[in-house]
Amino acid sequence: MCGIVGYVGSEQAAPILLDGLARLEYRGYDSAGIAVVSPRHELQVKKTVGRLRALSDLVHGGADVEGTIGMGHTRWATHGAPNDVNSHPHVSENGKFAVIHNGIIENYVELKEFLISQGVTFRSETDTEVVAQLLEFYYNECGDFFESVGRVLRRIEGAYALGMLCADCPDRIIAARKDAPLLLGFGEGCSFLASDATAIIKHTRDVVYMDDGEIAVLTRGGIQLYNAMQQPIEKEHHHIEWEVSAAEKGGYPHFMLKEIMEQPDALRHAIAPRLRGGEIVFDDLKLTPEKIRGFDRIFIVACGSSYHVGMVGKYNLEHLLRRSVEVALASEFRYSDPIVDDKTLVIIISQSGETLDTMAALREAKKRGAYILSIVNVVGSSIARESDDVLYTWAGPEIAVATTKAYSTQLAVLDMVGLCFAKLLGTVKEEEYADAVRELALLPDKVKETLGHCEDIQKYAAQHFHHESVFFIGRNLDYALGLEGSLKLKEISYIHSEAYASGELKHGTISLIEDGTLVIALGTYGPLFDKAMSNVIEVKARGADVLALTTESHRNEMAKTVDHVLTIPDTAAMLLPSLGVVPLQLFSYYIALQRGCDIDKPRNLAKSVTVE
Ligand code: G6P
Repeated sequence: MCGIVGYVGSEQAAPILLDGLARLEYRGYDSAGIAVVSPRHELQVKKTVGRLRALSDLVHGGADVEGTIGMGHTRWATHGAPNDVNSHPHVSENGKFAVIHNGIIENYVELKEFLISQGVTFRSETDTEVVAQLLEFYYNECGDFFESVGRVLRRIEGAYALGMLCADCPDRIIAARKDAPLLLGFGEGCSFLASDATAIIKHTRDVVYMDDGEIAVLTRGGIQLYNAMQQPIEKEHHHIEWEVSAAEKGGYPHFMLKEIMEQPDALRHAIAPRLRGGEIVFDDLKLTPEKIRGFDRIFIVACGSSYHVGMVGKYNLEHLLRRSVEVALASEFRYSDPIVDDKTLVIIISQSGETLDTMAALREAKKRGAYILSIVNVVGSSIARESDDVLYTWAGPEIAVATTKAYSTQLAVLDMVGLCFAKLLGTVKEEEYADAVRELALLPDKVKETLGHCEDIQKYAAQHFHHESVFFIGRNLDYALGLEGSLKLKEISYIHSEAYASGELKHGTISLIEDGTLVIALGTYGPLFDKAMSNVIEVKARGADVLALTTESHRNEMAKTVDHVLTIPDTAAMLLPSLGVVPLQLFSYYIALQRGCDIDKPRNLAKSVTVE
């Protein structure tokens, strides 16, 4: 979704801003722009619809906009079509104020009407422009940039990460945050602003994450933070550990392929430090055994692929804990009047830690007294900071919009939570626990082995990329796995695809199966293998072209009915989706490649969804 980068220092700002925006491209956007204050204290604003390349060409790589202070933005349209005018930065009527904004100003209509009644003329259809115009309005009243920002923040409602420039104060950027991520970077004689560390890591690893209500004034000499009352505050600095190379392609044609291939390492990071002497140990968990025993209800709440992790988790946690586990889409949960109290554990899953609906669901659950345990990838993200407990997935930065290594590591951590709690509650048999822990330790190697089937998968993708509709079928864990396989395929290849619980086929979906329909039959879950086979036979009988996924031990059995069989190594039942997802990711990747799709930045999608 929208990206923000800001710089004030002694170097030319435009190339730094363009480079920072390029590193945020993965978040998804439809237009981009920059504002740079010239040495003559004039605001130069350049923006355009389309890819960053167009913006870079417009300003000749930055050469056309001289100045050492500026801000850049990539926009993902919400209010107003993606076009040049609606792109950020937005400038006030007298050209003195420039604003970039992530989020939505909810009361913008009312504010716009007020400003129009005061004679202000608007150029764009966006909610953001009211911020620029209001700044000018209050500045005309008080003549002070910082004070004007305070007045604006007291008038606007909604979510925002804001970067603001004033031509009369050419030495500073003012930033403000509420419900949208924003961080500050500290350099030598320079300061940075970004919606995501990826944009500035090349320049500094010394950062402060802004919290809701905070305001920051960035100058060459440093950054001063203020609370919502505009009183100065000091905050803890964080050091970003990961390397710049982690956010680069490193020889792979796409981030998605790189991240698929990184899964063995990512899983090792997530699992190994938490396995000790055949036990699962969470040093990073604050929850006490008494508290765990006291929970009578568990929710897993998330969006997108993280929700699909929750779907697998439901089967595994209910089996292990003998307690009912509800999985909820964050966007539904937050408005559903959920039955949550102080005996409820809410497990929040989020790669970015910034998804707006997930964040709102967390706050709703917290308000009702729930204990919040989150599984998050991005360290220091909003969800991580507002949770009672956080388990990081340590997958490293994930750039491709379609998640792969974040999904795998979230799943491994959730499975480990299930096993750890089950051991404590005495609801899991010793042998099952020991087997699962042994297999968890082997998981990174088994994923690596599965990645070795790349060529077979590429071959099947070449045979099947022309299909316009695909069905994934499976039972139990394979059904939950199918949901993720289907999402991966549709989001990057634009092929219509659905996942069904095989038992439901007869209740409608089977009417869609005809000669040549592609069905991906998931039959990895041993206890229901025979049932899965019956469904495969049913769709074959109606002419479906079936590509099956099963374990090595069931390969021969599957091959009697199906022409194309992909396999994964055998493992503990609960870990099968962790292996099964790998061929499905690769299959989607190679299909999208065959179809010439923009794999890392699929149309209309964003990596981090910070609007409702
Ligand atoms: C977007 C991404 C998905 C992701 C979902 C939830 O839709 O494209 O890959 O699963 O958001 O994001 P989160 O960061 O909360 O896991």
